[in-house]
Amino acid sequence: MVSDMVTPLQPRSGLPPGYPFDFERQVTLDDGRTIYVRPVVPGDAVLLASAVAEADADTLYHRFFNPAIRLDKKRLRFLTEVDYRRRFALVAFARGEGVAIARFEPAGEDLAEIAVVVKPEWRQVGLATALFDLLEDAAIERGVSRLEALYLPSNHAIERVLEKRGFGGVTVEAGVARVTKDLGPKPAVAGGTSGL
Ligand SMILES: CC(C)(COP(=O)(O)OP(=O)(O)OC[C@H]1O[C@@H](n2cnc3c(N)ncnc32)[C@H](O)[C@@H]1OP(=O)(O)O)[C@@H](O)C(=O)NCCC(=O)NCCS
Repeated sequence: MVSDMVTPLQPRSGLPPGYPFDFERQVTLDDGRTIYVRPVVPGDAVLLASAVAEADADTLYHRFFNPAIRLDKKRLRFLTEVDYRRRFALVAFARGEGVAIARFEPAGEDLAEIAVVVKPEWRQVGLATALFDLLEDAAIERGVSRLEALYLPSNHAIERVLEKRGFGGVTVEAGVARVTKDLGPKPAVAGGTSGL
């Protein structure tokens, strides 16, 4: 269950331009545990670096298609410095510890690629689903009309998550599966046209 209660997870000052406060949430997972979700900020690079360093090979393989990946500073900056418009990411926390990260990145005109990783002890209690719910809302608000996801065909966990969310039309190319989901037309621009 996603509720709108906002929790002060970080100082209110010094946030990046465009930081979308309306994507801060408290989420109650299927097993009753509560987590807090907020948009990614540059300071999360440290947390992400240690999460990747500690992650098991299987998790890295499924998320990055490389079981031994190490993220250099440039890549960490890329993953944690977003514009909250075309590039958007959410981080989930429990007791101050990062437990999941999910994002979308532009992949074509009105098309974005969605991806997620959840720490093993937080899986199968609806966390990826909750993050994808929020990402879909963000994508629609930002004019994305179609999402895609790329995954290894052996990754039945993400296959199930995506299938339940209405992704389909699977194709496999060079050993990577791809599914898509239409989000519908762009929302109308508030205030109508000004003629300018
Ligand atoms: C794939 C992954 C993100 C799923 O996260 P999650 O938080 O466990 O997913 P959810 O709890 O929201 O699961 C949603 C549905 O998928 C099912 N599901 C999730 N993992 C599953 C698994 N390993 N086997 C079978 N079903 C699974 C859930 O049971 C649930 O279905 P239900 O509502 O019928 O019970 C997680 O396993 C993960 O981080 N894997 C490593 C990284 C990765 O593969 N990322 C994907 C790259 S895009």
